[in-house]
Amino acid sequence: MSITVLPLPDDKLKPLPDPDAALPFGQIFTDRMYTHEWTEANGWGDAKIEPYGPLSLDPSTSVFHYAQEFFEGTKAYRRPDGNINLFRTIENCKRFNQSARRAVMPEVDIEHHFEAIRKLVELENRWVPNGAGQSLYIRPTMIATAPRLGLKPGGSYLHFVILSPSGAYFVDGFNPVSVYISDEFVRAVPGGTGSVKMGGNYAAAIYVAQQVYDKGYHQVLYLDGIERKYIEEVGAMNIAFVMNGKHIVTPKLSGSILPGITRKSVLEMAPDLGYTVSEERIDINDIVKGLETGDVTEAFGMGTAAVIAPVDKFGWKGKDLVVGAGGVGPVATNLYTTLTDIQYGRIADPYGWTHTIEVA
Ligand code: PLP
Ligand code: COI
Repeated sequence: MSITVLPLPDDKLKPLPDPDAALPFGQIFTDRMYTHEWTEANGWGDAKIEPYGPLSLDPSTSVFHYAQEFFEGTKAYRRPDGNINLFRTIENCKRFNQSARRAVMPEVDIEHHFEAIRKLVELENRWVPNGAGQSLYIRPTMIATAPRLGLKPGGSYLHFVILSPSGAYFVDGFNPVSVYISDEFVRAVPGGTGSVKMGGNYAAAIYVAQQVYDKGYHQVLYLDGIERKYIEEVGAMNIAFVMNGKHIVTPKLSGSILPGITRKSVLEMAPDLGYTVSEERIDINDIVKGLETGDVTEAFGMGTAAVIAPVDKFGWKGKDLVVGAGGVGPVATNLYTTLTDIQYGRIADPYGWTHTIEVA
């Protein structure tokens, strides 16, 4: 399927962010966006790359009422040679369709979706920043655009992709975050939508995030929705624990955990760095015990936006549990360095995870 690029005169281009100022996460957007409409009558219409701008939607539009939408998050990185790397973006295109199926919304041809992202990034390549920890965050999204209040699938949908030059998700960059373990609220339940990226998952979690933020923590760690005993994940990233400095354990995919691409990458590359890995049903009581005895030496979050986020402290039932020595541990540092070296093309990619866009 072809993609039509609509004209954008040079005098309409926005200025790039000041390279000397801190770059926020997800607040600045580039000059162009990708759009593709689907209707029940005609299926997919013409795919376009057009000037970035507001969408005009009727107030009755489904997405506003029933959160009928899902999204992805992937990144483009500036290489030392000036070219650009996409990191495992094809995996995001596949997961986009898993979300589509769960949301009863139309799937997007995976090769077409990848090409739409590649072409948009290529056109917008001047926006890929090159500061430390900076990248171009890519947000593919699909929304239900039917102007009606009846709750049913069909009607019309819009697939769009927007780009945001971004700095670290956590303002302190690669520094420890504190995490409160909720024994009260859950993020997802078996049979729900936790394993896909539907916006409603995140909307429901804002309340909990605000509560732990008010207690002085950065993030929430959720337990399973039935017994509130088995560790699931953090609001915007998967979680892993390091046992005695050498074994990495992460919750196995329960059906209500998002199958993260960063998580998968860590599981694939950690053995090459000398660590053993396992995916298990992890009882929170075992982790609390391990934190107290010192057997849990590190913990870290894993996600596209968050990259590798070391956890220095867990709040649990009103008490603080310090992780290991309390700072950034060697395993998280090693994983962060190796992963970001591959993403930015500073070292060879032995896994075939990166796709280089030649722009230099
Ligand atoms: N879990 C949740 C709930 C997320 O929102 C994310 C971010 O996308 C992740 C985990 C990590 O997934 P990925 O590594 O694919 O970005
Ligand atoms: C990502 O890591 O890409 C996400 O989608 C998480 C989001 C809440 C920023």
